[in-house]
Amino acid sequence: MKIIAIANQKGGVGKTTTAVNLGFALAEEGVRVLLVDLDPQGNATSSLGMQELEGESLYEPLLGGVSVAERILPTRLPRLFIVPADLDLAGVEVEIARMSDHLTRLKETLLPLRADDTFDYVLLDCPPSLGILMTNALAAADELLTPIQCEYFALEGLVKIVRVIEQVRGSGANDNLEIGGIVMTMFDSRTNLSAQVVADVREHFGERVYETVIPRTVRLSEAPSFGKSVFEHDSSGAGARAYRALAKEFIQRHGSA
Ligand SMILES: Nc1ncnc2c1ncn2[C@@H]1O[C@H](COP(=O)(O)OP(=O)(O)O)[C@@H](O)[C@H]1O
Ligand SMILES: [Mg+2]
Repeated sequence: MKIIAIANQKGGVGKTTTAVNLGFALAEEGVRVLLVDLDPQGNATSSLGMQELEGESLYEPLLGGVSVAERILPTRLPRLFIVPADLDLAGVEVEIARMSDHLTRLKETLLPLRADDTFDYVLLDCPPSLGILMTNALAAADELLTPIQCEYFALEGLVKIVRVIEQVRGSGANDNLEIGGIVMTMFDSRTNLSAQVVADVREHFGERVYETVIPRTVRLSEAPSFGKSVFEHDSSGAGARAYRALAKEFIQRHGSA
């Protein structure tokens, strides 16, 4: 079992869209996936049509009240499970901050999942700030999957993430953390800028950048409003094709299906 943090301290770059649709595509390929919604806004949860859940998030497990296993819910898709988010999660940062093991609460909360063999991958959909939940995700993760929007300042954003990773390593919370993959999102084929940004990021980060590039499509952006993944909303469109290709590449890279 591997824990992948889908993280970028910037909001609106495609973290949640990637967590939901990569998770869905991996499950369709036969991989057992647990999606953990770590963003109090709960966008991944509602993207799968599962809003209005209360008391079902990781809030209590993070504070040591109950086991994570009690917060795992099935989705419409076999092999895809979710730990939903709720607004309680917004308050958990304050409470965790008071605990002596505040950097490693999530790591410890997820330990039982490492011990049993129920899931192949745990995908953490991270909130867009450098708060306690995100640093906990980085401390718990085996690797980072970072979505980068194809726009100006993409490289500057990546440099910041690399610095954060170094800090987490330096803190001793996770010596092995590294960027496992970079996914370029919202690629607009009508502009030269998108192509230029992808070329620049590839030049600096080489093989870590996925071959698959996610195009900007209206279908990807409207699917969450129906509580659906892009595969249920527009299964043969460019967005679905891209996330299916990303899942295949992910499996190839990790050597398992
Ligand atoms: N490839 C894409 N094409 C079009 N819209 C997208 C794409 N990826 C994400 N979006 C939209 O952009 C917004 C931000 O994406 P989201 O995945 O929520 O980012 P984050 O989780 O990083 O904040 C959302 O409205 C989402 O639907
Ligand atoms: Mg998000």
